[in-house]
Amino acid sequence: MDLKSLIRDVPDFPKPGILFRDLTTLLQNQAGLRYVVDQLVEKHRHDGLDYVAGIESRGFIFGAPLAYHLGAGFIPLRKPGKLCRPVYSVEYTLEYGSDRLEMHQDAIQPGQRVLIVDDLIATGGTAAAAAGLMAQASAELHGFAFIVELADLGGRAKLPDVPITTLVTY
Ligand code: PRP
Ligand code: ADE
Repeated sequence: MDLKSLIRDVPDFPKPGILFRDLTTLLQNQAGLRYVVDQLVEKHRHDGLDYVAGIESRGFIFGAPLAYHLGAGFIPLRKPGKLCRPVYSVEYTLEYGSDRLEMHQDAIQPGQRVLIVDDLIATGGTAAAAAGLMAQASAELHGFAFIVELADLGGRAKLPDVPITTLVTY
């Protein structure tokens, strides 16, 4: 399937100079949504995962159905102040700002196997922060899965040396 034809390019959003890859047009396409979830399921069917960890907010959209189909649990990695019990926390910089990711300390036991999922990797700061949370929890990070990779921004160089799945590269 030609996923690029379902992804909308929006210049100068949310700031001048950013070419925003808008996945809402992919999500609203029934065949497109099914295709990307099915692709991720196929690529990770034999990973033996305990959990899929989805990054707020767009990582939730793809992470939860993936966890469901793999028979794994889902862990939300959230923006600051949203989780109700003690958290691990990592600050990171974005293509357009800075932020913090948090995970409940009791979400995962040492050695449990986790796949981190997000819609897109740009500079890699967000996904690297998610990996930092897994390190704080002594989880076994199995890998990462993204729908889109913005390769020019070199994000994968910031990630630990584990398998990375991407479905579309710009
Ligand atoms: C976007 C995207 C990734 C992140 C990628 O999220 O969904 O999480 O940016 O950028 P990076 O590789 O440079 O860190 P955003 O922070 O815009 O939040 P949202 O998912 O809530 O829209
Ligand atoms: N997140 C970070 N950079 C992005 C971009 N260029 N398009 C969509 N989401 C993004």
